[in-house]
Amino acid sequence: MTLAIIGGTGLTSLQGLEIDRREMVHTPYGEPSGPLTHGHLNDQQVIFLARHGYGHTIPPHRINYRANIWALRQAGATCVLAVAAVGGINTVLSPGRLVAPDQIIDYTWGRANTFFEEDLTHVTHVEFGRPYDDDLRERMLQGARDCGVSMHDGGCYGATQGPRLESAAEIERMRRDGCDMVGMTGMPEAVLARELELPYATCGVVANWAAGMDGGKPISMEAVEAVLKDGMADVRQVLGALIPRLQS
Ligand code: HPA
Repeated sequence: MTLAIIGGTGLTSLQGLEIDRREMVHTPYGEPSGPLTHGHLNDQQVIFLARHGYGHTIPPHRINYRANIWALRQAGATCVLAVAAVGGINTVLSPGRLVAPDQIIDYTWGRANTFFEEDLTHVTHVEFGRPYDDDLRERMLQGARDCGVSMHDGGCYGATQGPRLESAAEIERMRRDGCDMVGMTGMPEAVLARELELPYATCGVVANWAAGMDGGKPISMEAVEAVLKDGMADVRQVLGALIPRLQS
């Protein structure tokens, strides 16, 4: 398997990646967030893409998700691991924790969320009952166990439109809906990977308590950055341990 890693906030480059080359892929859907980086991590070939661009300049609602997923497949990726910062809604998802969500609720709007738009001769309703690939999730969780990094197994990812953070009432509604975490980029990324039949899983990094969860304290971006810095060190370990597990 050739793993593609989509890096989110806090992971715009991959430490330890031996870079072979960068490739700009042009797709029928426009330009991806930046050039793809082809390289080796622990002697295995991987492809890396920074979701928000290498200078972190593209906000969640402006990301060309279709171009990103299309480009990764065109470049030879056979599975996609998405790294994503999230806000914790479930009280077990405290800042700094890693989490492997297993469900999604999509609250985004106005994003190009399908490849099946041009060819209307056959309408395709892609299966999405289990939006993340079970096998890839399991390997990621096993990788986390291998390297002694604690990763919460399961939870529902609520995808919001951004770029603003949520109100406390919105988070309370999401909690009642069954969301355990909130992020701005999980959709349509996950469904687009499914449409192209690319196994897809998310490694969530809890950056902060979601709005209203911490006794109503405002979310501080400095605190978020500090938490992500440590969290990404754990993510790198998990990635390193996951890669050998993709070969069997
Ligand atoms: N809300 C939405 N997206 C996020 C958050 C949040 O609190 N934290 C990190 N990504």
